[in-house]
Amino acid sequence: MDGNGRWATRRGLPRAAGHSAGARAVRRIVEAAPGLGIGQLTLFAFSADNWKRPPDEVAALMRLFARYLRSETPRLVANGVRLEVVGRRDRLPALLGVAIDAAEQATAGNETLFLRLLVDYSGRAAIQAGLLLPDVDLLIRTGGEQRLSDFLLWECAYAELHFSDRYWPDFGPADLAAAIGEFRRRQRRFGGLPETAAG
Ligand code: FPP
Repeated sequence: MDGNGRWATRRGLPRAAGHSAGARAVRRIVEAAPGLGIGQLTLFAFSADNWKRPPDEVAALMRLFARYLRSETPRLVANGVRLEVVGRRDRLPALLGVAIDAAEQATAGNETLFLRLLVDYSGRAAIQAGLLLPDVDLLIRTGGEQRLSDFLLWECAYAELHFSDRYWPDFGPADLAAAIGEFRRRQRRFGGLPETAAG
C-alpha cells in the first residue's frame, strides 16, 4: 500500500492525512474484493523496517491501525470478513494489541473473505521462524515501486506481479478489477509447460 505520503504531500497535507486516506482505500478494497472472486486478501500495513520512520509518523500509524480495527469491526462482521493480523506483537503499543485481539475474536467465524493485515512483519524473519502463510497468487504493489520490500518472500515464489503507478489512496475497486482481469489472462506454468504443450 505505497504512496500515502506522496498523495498527501501533493495536496499540501501532512503524511498522516495520506495514511488516513489510505485507510479509507482499505475499506473500499476490502468491500470490493469478494465481488471480484477474491477469497483471501493480504495487506502489507507496516513492515519490520518501518520502525525506521520518524517516531511521530510511526505513532500516527499505530493509532490509525487501532482506530481502524475498532471502528471497522462491525462492518467486517456484517460483510463476513475474517481478520487476522500477522507479525510481531511484542513491539506494538498495548492498546493496539488489545484492538487486534478484539477484532480477531469478533470476526473469527466469518468465511466470505480472509483478510490478513501484516503489521511489524518481515518475510525473512518469518522464513527463519517457519511462520509461513498460503502461497500468493497475485501481488499488487502501488505507488510506482517495483520491489518486494521483505513481503511474503517465501509465499511469492510463483506469484504473478502487478505494479501500479497509482498512489494507494487512489487505488480503487476498478484498479483491482483491472489487475485481476490481467491476472486471469496470464498463463501460469509453475516451472512446467503450457497445458497444450504438455500433451
Ligand atoms: C507505505 O507508503 C505505507 C505505509 C507504511 C503505511 C500503510 C498504511 C495504510 C495504508 C494505512 C491504513 C491501513 C490500515 C490497515 C488501516 P508511504 O505512505 O510511505 O508512501 P510514500 O512512498 O508516498 O511516502
